[in-house]
Amino acid sequence: MTQRLIIVSNRLPVTVRAEHGEPVVHMSVGGLATGLRAPHERSNGLWIGWPGDLGDLDPRGRDKVRCQLAELRTVPVELDPTEIEVFYEHVSNAVLWPTFHDRVDRLPLRVEGWDVYDSVNARFADAVAEQYEPGDVIWVHDYQLMRLPALLRDRIPDARVGFFLHIPFPNPEIYFALPTRAWLVEGMMGADLVGFQTRRFQGHFRAALRRLFGLEMDAAGYVRWGERRVRLGVFPIGVDTASLATRAASPEVDSLVGELTTPGQRLLVGIDRLDYSKGIPRRLIAVERLLVLHPEWRERIRLVQVAVPSRDRVAAYREFRTEVEGLVGRINGRFGTPTWTPIHYMRRGVSTDVVLGLCRAADVALVTPLRDGMNLVAKEFAASRIDEDGVLILSEFAGAADELTDALIVNPYDIDGTAEAIHTALTMDPADRRRRMRALRDQVAANDVHRWVATFLETLTSE
Ligand code: F6P
Repeated sequence: MTQRLIIVSNRLPVTVRAEHGEPVVHMSVGGLATGLRAPHERSNGLWIGWPGDLGDLDPRGRDKVRCQLAELRTVPVELDPTEIEVFYEHVSNAVLWPTFHDRVDRLPLRVEGWDVYDSVNARFADAVAEQYEPGDVIWVHDYQLMRLPALLRDRIPDARVGFFLHIPFPNPEIYFALPTRAWLVEGMMGADLVGFQTRRFQGHFRAALRRLFGLEMDAAGYVRWGERRVRLGVFPIGVDTASLATRAASPEVDSLVGELTTPGQRLLVGIDRLDYSKGIPRRLIAVERLLVLHPEWRERIRLVQVAVPSRDRVAAYREFRTEVEGLVGRINGRFGTPTWTPIHYMRRGVSTDVVLGLCRAADVALVTPLRDGMNLVAKEFAASRIDEDGVLILSEFAGAADELTDALIVNPYDIDGTAEAIHTALTMDPADRRRRMRALRDQVAANDVHRWVATFLETLTSE
């Protein structure tokens, strides 16, 4: 791709940290940030998004941050406290997030704030229009910016715009709970290409288009939308497999693996944002069930559960934390001994090295979301296993289950079934473990984040 790429996401891939009393901006190392770094740099592109809450900085600190952001070719869209509360915390994370993860039971009584959602999307559209030069390609990311493609179409009718939804698109039976169901789809249809993680999510979107507007996708993947044609596509996101494998082989990660390994004890690992879509409570109960159904594992297994704090100003997330921590305490209280604690719970963000160390040291990785667009921890686990060992237990409701078919696939609502899958994983023949892990590794190597970026952008620009 020779055109300049303008990436737009709610959050910029940066973190602002105070160092010696001065704010310093660092580029994040997450999957999306790493995947898009090359086209961003190669095309001399721009990344437009929210730099996070800079409210604690004095005016001089804010100016310093703005200069550093410009050096990184990022353009900040700063949100004021009301916008953070209504656009980010309420509409995006208390309304859209639960609905798109099939959890309408988590919806607040009042599903409102769409005017602020729209005005923030319009501010993003203005920021893009200000930077846009003819020939640029614009790639919009995720559910916080579903109105943006249409708002861009109003401002720059000829722009080439792609939209990718990182989270599930729900079945219309659920999606139709949203009073703004047509308006949000109209927003997405401002794009030339709308991408989904899986065929199922694309199917749900097609069903919504049919029921809302009587429109069908043709055999080539296009939907007629007024004077334009919009292409729908499936682009499962990957991880930076090669660099994760290289880092996993580093002496730093090696020594972590040594520290995490306890002779005579098998290690189960769960790494998630502390989010109710991730299935942590049922996973904990499945481990408890394992200790009841197969008491021979008592004192011989332990689960390290990393729970990365997330969106903790949203009530549902705060309540969820209390639920998880209550369960950890109950299970440890029931089975723990003076020398053994079954669940080692850590509520904090961890470095990539710690993630890789845990993945490499694990006998079993538990990735059991109730609903997930993709789930990159499952892919990181496979990428890290340079020893071609370890078993992945994966929920059938993660997008990753469509690709990672050599995992032990479980229904996370079936607690006894999940407990038995853990037992199967712990007793699996080493040859079977290796055969499965090799297949998983081949899959994540062939479909990495670079391939995802290239395929989406080729499709978007190949008209
Ligand atoms: O999975 C969707 C997503 O937006 C990711 O892209 C992101 O890493 C995560 O949720 C965290 O979201 P937030 O920006 O709300 O912390």
